[in-house]
Amino acid sequence: MEFSIKAGTPDKLRSGCIAVGVFDAKQLTPPAAALDKASSGYLSEILRRGDLEAKAGATLLLHNVPGTACERVLLVSLGKQAEFSDKKFRSAVGAAAKALATCGSKDAVVCLLDRLVAARDARWHGRQAAMLLADSSYRFEATKSRKQDEHDRPRGPSKITLLVADKSDVSDVRSGADQGSAIASGMALAKELGNLPANICTPTYLAQQARALGKAHKFKVEVLERAQMEKLGMGSLLSVAAGSAEPPKFIVMKYQGTTKKGARPVVLVGKGITFDTGGISIKPAAEMDEMKYDMCGAASVFGTLKAVATLGLPLDVIGIVPSTENMPGGRATKPGDIVTSMSGQTIEILNTDAEGRLILCDALTYAERFDPDCVIDIATLTGACIIALGAIPSGLLANDDDLAAELLARGQDSGDRAWQLPLWDDYQEMLKSNFADIPNIGSKGAGTITAACFLARFTKKYKWAHLDIAGTAWKSGSEKGATGRPVPLLTQFLLARARLA
Ligand code: BES
Ligand code: MN
Ligand code: ZN
Repeated sequence: MEFSIKAGTPDKLRSGCIAVGVFDAKQLTPPAAALDKASSGYLSEILRRGDLEAKAGATLLLHNVPGTACERVLLVSLGKQAEFSDKKFRSAVGAAAKALATCGSKDAVVCLLDRLVAARDARWHGRQAAMLLADSSYRFEATKSRKQDEHDRPRGPSKITLLVADKSDVSDVRSGADQGSAIASGMALAKELGNLPANICTPTYLAQQARALGKAHKFKVEVLERAQMEKLGMGSLLSVAAGSAEPPKFIVMKYQGTTKKGARPVVLVGKGITFDTGGISIKPAAEMDEMKYDMCGAASVFGTLKAVATLGLPLDVIGIVPSTENMPGGRATKPGDIVTSMSGQTIEILNTDAEGRLILCDALTYAERFDPDCVIDIATLTGACIIALGAIPSGLLANDDDLAAELLARGQDSGDRAWQLPLWDDYQEMLKSNFADIPNIGSKGAGTITAACFLARFTKKYKWAHLDIAGTAWKSGSEKGATGRPVPLLTQFLLARARLA
């Protein structure tokens, strides 16, 4: 999707569809008022009849409105002006995106950019609008034999003009829209990798995708094979791979955006379990297909690196993806087995379904070599996180309060929120093994926290945050599909670090 930014009034513009905002079902925003004037009150008359719902996000599509050069006018409800908010802006733009995607127009003008949220600047509006509009054009087609033609389910306009009233806002909306499109392209990559089935999206496939991404964006990619992992002593990661016929891969992507010597990188570590059967502690059959999404942490690292590299952010970012399947089998790890992690700590594997932490701990030890400014891991780690928080925020736990606060704030800015859970030492009591340094599961209760406590034993040398995305990385049911989260949160975090947000 291509965005161009223009300043002015909408009445003379020619396009397939023009979207304008209306407060409280009748109060026209200035661009809507301009169209109303050009049409001699046609819009206000329709609104007087009460055809547009007042709730933010309601829309009404009109054809052949007199006095305009556009084929369609899309009225977008913004709710009450006094109650306008980030959330209402997102639902209004999201609704406009949805309506545009189904109206068959090849191009569109969107007039919702005039700093509708008073507390947010022009760049924020541009970023959010472009992200939401571009993201809504994502379709999964890779494994459909018949590509969906435009009549089936149109992709929406490929060209969108973001119209602002004020000339002085153009350059900020422009840079925001560039950021928003880069975020959406990162989300599309994360969604695609997540949605691909596990017989295609294997650890080997992820390694190939990493190499391709590095080639396209000119950053270095290294892939460690089993033998190298053995040499490094990654006994924990390899114990998860033991039951699988697919070779494990340890993927390292190195984006260098600074030229400064001594700049410390942000390290992102993504859980890359391409399928989680549970192993010998096997999962029940219902919905097990969704365990193809157990690499969505990895996918978010790919997507974020894509966004960062597209924008050429002046930061160093390392992406680490430990990747394997978790399968039962004759050589699979058994409950009670004890393995030695790269850190030297021994682990009693009491449940082979708690495998995410087993691959992450070795990746977190590996991360030490980069002398990181901070490390953020992203993982579909615990079903307990869905019980605690549902599908709204990702779970956040951290060994550094400033880093946690920073991520919470970037979640608010991007709309891709996280919520913090305590990582108090008291919970470490729940991780005790009679036979090894640490068990891979905690005693009953607080499953998201004890999982993070396990990881905390491997992250003592740097500032670290953990995002549990079990509830947010994909949707189940009739809308089953990856969400692309938390690419917006992570990219917003990096944009802010680069002072570009
Ligand atoms: N990948 C799962 C977590 C998960 C389950 C995410 C369902 C989303 C939906 C993870 O590997 C797992 O199986 N965790 C176990 C841990 C338990 C054995 C301590 C869980 O949450 O049940
Ligand atoms: Mn599992
Ligand atoms: Zn898992």
